[in-house]
Amino acid sequence: MKRPFITKEQGEALAAQFPTPFHLYDEKGIRANARRLMAAFSWNPGFREFFAVKATPTPAILKVLQEEGCGVDCSSRTELMLAERCGFTGPEIMFSSNDTPPEEFALARKLGATINLDDLTHVDCLRDTCGIPERICCRFNPGGTFAISNAIMDNPGQAKYGFTRDQLTEGFRRLMDLGAKSFGLHAFLASNTVSNEYYPVLAGVLFKAAVELKRETGAQIDFINLSGGVGIPYRPGRRPTTSPSSARAFTGPSTRSCSRREWTTSPSIRSWAASCWALTGIS
Ligand SMILES: Cc1ncc(COP(=O)(O)O)c(C=O)c1O
Repeated sequence: MKRPFITKEQGEALAAQFPTPFHLYDEKGIRANARRLMAAFSWNPGFREFFAVKATPTPAILKVLQEEGCGVDCSSRTELMLAERCGFTGPEIMFSSNDTPPEEFALARKLGATINLDDLTHVDCLRDTCGIPERICCRFNPGGTFAISNAIMDNPGQAKYGFTRDQLTEGFRRLMDLGAKSFGLHAFLASNTVSNEYYPVLAGVLFKAAVELKRETGAQIDFINLSGGVGIPYRPGRRPTTSPSSARAFTGPSTRSCSRREWTTSPSIRSWAASCWALTGIS
């Protein structure tokens, strides 16, 4: 269960100094958490955590995560601007947007971000706006209901996000024709899971699609982004995900089919939620 990192007296002293409500972050906890994730994936040379900025667009937090070696996952122009101002550059930025105005693609391209296309129509939009980069990622929506679920955003069949399986084949082919050379695959199928099975099952879904896509299109698939979705145990009796053991479970046979097998994640809740408290007064 989530436990406070300050005493009641410390909280009261802070509330006397700063007007409530405010959020209080535990920098040490955020750093330790980032290091645990890196250690869990240390078997993968290309691993990088891209913190999902939308969850906490706070420059001080982004800077702390940057110092720990994280990149950022941006979903809008404002988040791209924030990332740029914080000093994130090129491959340290992923751009996972939806319903994207063309100028946002242009800015992402200018910054050298890895663009994660949300649907098939984005292919033409990107081509017409700023051309197709060599390195590109596509968001997969396998449909149906996600098996390792907790009812939080776990119903991909009802979600508007992502390419269907058939659209991925079409999209990869078109992107290759337009100059893409290095592909990534991403999916975000549930949020705040605390099961150790979540990332391994998701990895299975993504690697199965990657193997099929490689066979169908000949695309070079260099990276897999497991996105966010790993949560923290808010309720008594629940246990946190033990990332190291779940990371080990990823190395199934299908993982060997991808060329560089670079793994990335873009969690938000897991990165800071245990290290953040809202302080508020009640009158
Ligand atoms: C594309 C994408 N990546 C990452 C995240 C972060 O997910 P979580 O907060 O479950 O870690 C989200 C959340 O909405 C998302 O949409």
